[in-house]
Amino acid sequence: MENSKKTFQTILITGGAGYIGSHCAVDLLEAGYNVVAIDNFVNSVGSSQDVLPPPLKGVEKITGKKVHFYYGDLLEKSVIQNIFQKHKIDCVIHFAAYKSVGESFHIPLNYYKNNLISTINLLEVMEEYGCYQMVFSSSCSVYGNPATLPITTKSPTGNATSTYGRTKYTSECILRDLSHAKSEWNIIALRYFNPAGAHNSGIIGEHPTKVAYANLMPFLGQVAIGERQHLTVYGNDYNTVDGTGVRDYIHIMDLCSGHLAALKKIESEHLKFKPYNLGIGKGLSVLELKNAFEEVNNVKIPHVILPRREGDVDALYCDASDSETELGWKPRFDAKDMCRDYWRWQTMNPKGYLHD
Ligand code: WQD
Repeated sequence: MENSKKTFQTILITGGAGYIGSHCAVDLLEAGYNVVAIDNFVNSVGSSQDVLPPPLKGVEKITGKKVHFYYGDLLEKSVIQNIFQKHKIDCVIHFAAYKSVGESFHIPLNYYKNNLISTINLLEVMEEYGCYQMVFSSSCSVYGNPATLPITTKSPTGNATSTYGRTKYTSECILRDLSHAKSEWNIIALRYFNPAGAHNSGIIGEHPTKVAYANLMPFLGQVAIGERQHLTVYGNDYNTVDGTGVRDYIHIMDLCSGHLAALKKIESEHLKFKPYNLGIGKGLSVLELKNAFEEVNNVKIPHVILPRREGDVDALYCDASDSETELGWKPRFDAKDMCRDYWRWQTMNPKGYLHD
């Protein structure tokens, strides 16, 4: 069923105060969309009421445009219904989820409940209000430990090596089944590799609210600025160039432009359910990224080697050619840009976002 060529006006972003959500809000506003955001501050900085949180204050400063913000948890359906009662939502970009590979092994029920029930609540309310368009934040972790590289969207999924990965895979199954049962659904799942870097203004960036949620780049920044004594490298016995884990790091602003491309695709075509990879197709080891950060920013990052982290795999990097040919998306930045932009955010905000 071809979508009539309608242009979306208002986009709801769940987890809108988070690292990826806030950066995408910049791109959406600058592309002329209205942005409505909801967040419960589980992995973002804010006070617990409808006060615009610091990351979204930064978004408004960068764009000069307003964000409609709601504090709330997707586990409470009424919170979502309230938003749909107040705004005509044309498409939802669903970022909100617990995201730590390591943490998910220790609290699996929290991960299954939060990541799956939130998604089901959201889908039920979307259906209630006749909104059938979604861009879903999925993950390369749905591929598990790949037998061959690079990973394409045809690579096997369903053998995730962590509870986190299994929640993302199961969410995709829910979306695929829903789009099969009801043809109105029009959904793109974006399988992120490793987002890194910050907006080039240095006004917004990545501020993990707990160690479990921190990715590699924030640790590099914290050691370089003296907030942390050394980097802990988890394992140097992987089957990789230097024994440390290899990942496909993608600049956060390339990840955002991938979301815009997916939105445009859904605006103009009816896909039912389709996944795409978002990565730059190049693997970097932990030590290679650390060295790049030191070189670009003229800093030193001492490190210690510890044993592997549960759930980590040797290497992940993708072939995102169908994102390029079908979404018209192409990454613009490389690891040095990610390191340079992250360092600007870190030096301008040594303690990250400050509470109001
Ligand atoms: C990267 C590499 C670590 C920290 C992330 C997101 C997850 C998903 C996939 C989207 C690994 C090593 C890290 C440190 C280290 N993205 N490392 N010392 O685990 O790949 O997962 O990307 O869905 O949501 O969290 O990212 O940055 O934690 O680890 O050696 O202090 O860096 O072992 O090889 P990960 P990460």
